[in-house]
Amino acid sequence: MTLRAPVLGLEASCDETAAAILAPDGRILAEVVLSQTAEHARFGGVVPEIAARAHLAHLPGLAARVLAEAGLRPQDLGGVAATSGPGLIGGLIVAAGFGKGLALAHGLPFVAVNHLEGHALSAMLPPSEVRFPFLLMLLSGGHCQCVAVEGVGRYRRLGTTLDDAVGEAFDKAAKLLGLPWPGGPHLERLALGGDATRFALPRPLLGRAGCDFSWSGLKTAVAHALGKLANPTEQDRADLAAGFQAAVAVTLADRAKHAARMLPEATALVVAGGVAANQAVRTALARATALPLVAPPIRLCGDNAVMIAWAGIERLKRGLADELGHAPRPRWPLDEMRA
Ligand code: KG4
Ligand code: ZN
Repeated sequence: MTLRAPVLGLEASCDETAAAILAPDGRILAEVVLSQTAEHARFGGVVPEIAARAHLAHLPGLAARVLAEAGLRPQDLGGVAATSGPGLIGGLIVAAGFGKGLALAHGLPFVAVNHLEGHALSAMLPPSEVRFPFLLMLLSGGHCQCVAVEGVGRYRRLGTTLDDAVGEAFDKAAKLLGLPWPGGPHLERLALGGDATRFALPRPLLGRAGCDFSWSGLKTAVAHALGKLANPTEQDRADLAAGFQAAVAVTLADRAKHAARMLPEATALVVAGGVAANQAVRTALARATALPLVAPPIRLCGDNAVMIAWAGIERLKRGLADELGHAPRPRWPLDEMRA
């Protein structure tokens, strides 16, 4: 199907409220991301009820803002794409409900976008030269999985976490080290002045076949090491942060090596999600396989609506619009997508 008009993307599955408008060729006409970090920080994590209310308060205004910036009226759009899972149900209802209302009011096609597909396809947003099939390592606060991306709607999960997501592990280790939430970026900064070799921390599942992940033991090891230090100094904390980050990086590299064997025809190793911003992780993954490492620009690594609009465009071009009766899905594994 030819798609002639721009598509509006809406994202509200976790703690970012976002809207974006992309031309059918992938040009970004307008985009905005509103992070709720400050609202959740004092609770040390995302509070679903607070998130849902904030999405409800902000999403319609953000949609109006990107339309105005792009110089478009709703009826000028070629479709509306809204994150409809997986994620926190309150936010999914806001994004999908608002998106469907807009589509119904203006007679536009609606696409119920899988958030994970958004992350996966963001690697192909022009001017990217990434082609199918590729390996995707999705490393965020809510997700930790390795996926064979073989086409739009064609995904095979090669491995997943047995306990925490890797971003969650960063956040928990950071909390133990007395850093504010979300701790990943703070831990990376603290690790800069640290000696990664001082503490012998575990490398979970290292060398094990397949591409699963496990992080809870590593976090516990950080807690034990800290517990043995009577009065941890700044240097102790930096050494532990460096040790933790190195253990994560080495483990991720090992998992990537196994994944590359599971998809020998892969053309690239793509890393996405908030943890993809970590330099030690990027360096380790770049060396892990013979594949080129591709990371979307940092602002597209975290949650955003550009990737949702782009996934919507890829689907609309293939005639894959959804019914307005499509119900949001808090759990929606990528393998259950239709092509
Ligand atoms: O993808 P994202 O923005 O949101 C979702 O979780 O969906 O990822 C946020 C996660 C948090 O756990 C945060 O601590 C982690 O990504 N993160 C990092 C870094 N920047 C963000 N972890 C390690 N190093 C970083 N530089
Ligand atoms: Zn995400």
